Amino acid sequence: MLEISAENEFAIQDLLAAFEDETNAQAKYLAFAEKADAEQLHGAASLCRAAARSEHFHAARHARAMRQLGVDVQCAPRKAEVKSTLENMRNALEAEEHEIVEMYPGVLEAARKQRNQTVIRSFTWAMEAEKSHAVLYGEAVALLEAGRSDSWIEDAREFYVCPECGYTAETLKRDESCPVCRCSQERFEAVE
Ligand SMILES: [Fe+2]
Ligand SMILES: [Fe+2]
Repeated sequence: MLEISAENEFAIQDLLAAFEDETNAQAKYLAFAEKADAEQLHGAASLCRAAARSEHFHAARHARAMRQLGVDVQCAPRKAEVKSTLENMRNALEAEEHEIVEMYPGVLEAARKQRNQTVIRSFTWAMEAEKSHAVLYGEAVALLEAGRSDSWIEDAREFYVCPECGYTAETLKRDESCPVCRCSQERFEAVE
């Protein structure tokens, strides 16, 4: 076990909180996907599964950063509260906005002071990817509120998830790179 400095202790606390948040988000979105499928909103279910995959990548990257600081972590996700899909999509949108506006900017400020590039990257990539989730969940909320059954919300479809940063897209542009982490979109995972 590495010796943990006081500085690293703060970074580990922030990484652990973010790791737990992402692990819980992954479990919650999988529960939301099941509910959406039961309501015949298969497109919404596809989005939830893609976002869950993305949150998995975020949790894994935060865990890797913690291992580099000498700490091995695990987290059993808490049971998600599942309501109607419209309410679930609103809940997801709110959670994403909280991560973008409060959670990640807060921990990033501390990480920048400590100049730990691994931690800065883990938080920055997650925060930027959450922005793609907020856009997609916002779209789902708008479609459900408008009762748009002729839209993607009812039919299972593919979303594309960057395995490095979790950026999530509606379309795949194979000859382009990820707008967040610059890895090739050839490497994106299709999630339906
Ligand atoms: Fe997210
Ligand atoms: Fe990426």
